[in-house]
Amino acid sequence: MTTLKPLQKWSNLSSANRQSSPPDDSLRDLKYGRCMSFFVAGNWKTHLLSDEANTLIQQLLDQCNQDGVAVFPPALYVPQVSDQLRDSAIGFGVQDISESGFGATTGDLCAQQVAEFGCQYALVGHSERRQRQQESSQWVAEKALAAVTAGLVPIVCVGETLEEREAGNDVATVMEQLEPVLNLVPVDSTLMVAYEPVWAIGTGKTASADQAQAMHSEIRARLSQIGMQQTKILYGGSVKAANAAELAQCPDVYGALVGGAALQIDEFAAIVAAFQERH
Ligand code: 13P
Repeated sequence: MTTLKPLQKWSNLSSANRQSSPPDDSLRDLKYGRCMSFFVAGNWKTHLLSDEANTLIQQLLDQCNQDGVAVFPPALYVPQVSDQLRDSAIGFGVQDISESGFGATTGDLCAQQVAEFGCQYALVGHSERRQRQQESSQWVAEKALAAVTAGLVPIVCVGETLEEREAGNDVATVMEQLEPVLNLVPVDSTLMVAYEPVWAIGTGKTASADQAQAMHSEIRARLSQIGMQQTKILYGGSVKAANAAELAQCPDVYGALVGGAALQIDEFAAIVAAFQERH
């Protein structure tokens, strides 16, 4: 196996640097320490065979090689993705992480091992895992802490079901999912929150810009209350080229976590362009 060169991590920057930058509307890129002004990531879930993943990465290198773009391939493809993206601006991460470190946890993804392969990010608490693996919000918080401790940026996914929204419990649900994370990770941690309403994931039904902004603003207010106002909030749920520009106009929507549309380069590149054009 090739030896991976260590990447500069945001968490490794001196605390003086961390306080003086990034400016309010940007996030420091973990890979090169540059400032990003948006973040658009493709969550590939369990799609693609490895040669298809290679092709998609090559297309991304051709069309979207810029700060603020990232991919979350299936964990098995992390070594090849790491090799392909080595000298690029594109970041990458894993779709889940174990809350425990090295040890007897068969099948888990250990944060330190993930970081060794050059990953900068880890999704935690995706609704598909909350549902399928019955991940509790406390468990998700422990995963977020494990990621932060290993120098990874956790992207904490939250979102309500349609029933919860229709019962008027959407904000309460999202806050309940978020609260254990905010209680557990140090207040100066770099993390992102991805608001992904469950009813919008893979359904073709996107939250309207007003619905997305309303929830993002609630999340922003809570983060600000505890001194985490720098935390970036992404929207996810049927984001595609056709609705990206509208979502990108929302002041608290910093970027997008894209599922299905991330597998088609033209769609994904258009989403990246929509967020880039906002600035
Ligand atoms: P879709 O974009 O396919 O709705 O998936 C969103 C998602 O789950 C991203 O994590």
